[in-house]
Amino acid sequence: MSFLVFEGLDGSGKSSLMVALEQELQNKNISFYRTREPGGTPLGDEIRNMILRKEGPAPVSRAELLLYEASRAQHVEQIIRPKLASGVWVLCDRFTASSVAFQGGGRDISESDVVSLNNFATGNLKPDLTILLDLSVEESRRRRQGRGAQNGEEEDRIESEADSFHEKVRLSFLKQAKADSKGWLVLNAQEPPQVLFQQLVQALHERKIL
Ligand code: TYD
Repeated sequence: MSFLVFEGLDGSGKSSLMVALEQELQNKNISFYRTREPGGTPLGDEIRNMILRKEGPAPVSRAELLLYEASRAQHVEQIIRPKLASGVWVLCDRFTASSVAFQGGGRDISESDVVSLNNFATGNLKPDLTILLDLSVEESRRRRQGRGAQNGEEEDRIESEADSFHEKVRLSFLKQAKADSKGWLVLNAQEPPQVLFQQLVQALHERKIL
């Protein structure tokens, strides 16, 4: 079994790529479990709501980081480790790299502090592969606004940050991927969904994950 994480700016197409991979795993009779952060457990879903809603008290940066980590600790212990132990693949929409990118890169918390809190929350559990769907900030904004206009959803607290924030987030994702090329796969999110899926499957074969 494998633990795969999908990362990228909002609107980068994580969900569609995850759905395509789920279909492939189903065809191969591989059991998988799809989950997300923040969230993935009842407590995590409550924390998600606290962090992302725009009404209500806004956490300061360090409190925000700790809330993401609290959700993560619960998620790893109650869901991710047990699933992996029972031989099920786990596909997770965002994980530790998002805290490094959004709270470290975006909110300027020291990266080493974020990494130690990540390690504490996860008990050092690392994904087998983190897939980054890299997208420009302009395109991410365009897609988010298109999505909002279509389904009437408002931007959440993180999405409504300035472009300069999202620029730092993007650079942090790219920096993390560059520092660990074995553990990361970077895909150009501007490519059509089918091409992205083929590139993902090819990379999973090359790395003997699939
Ligand atoms: P996501 O579920 O991708 O958003 P949506 O459902 O709106 O597409 O992620 C929720 C937001 O939380 C996203 O803007 C990124 C942010 N986030 C962090 O800032 N730090 C973290 O550690 C995680 C996991 C997410």
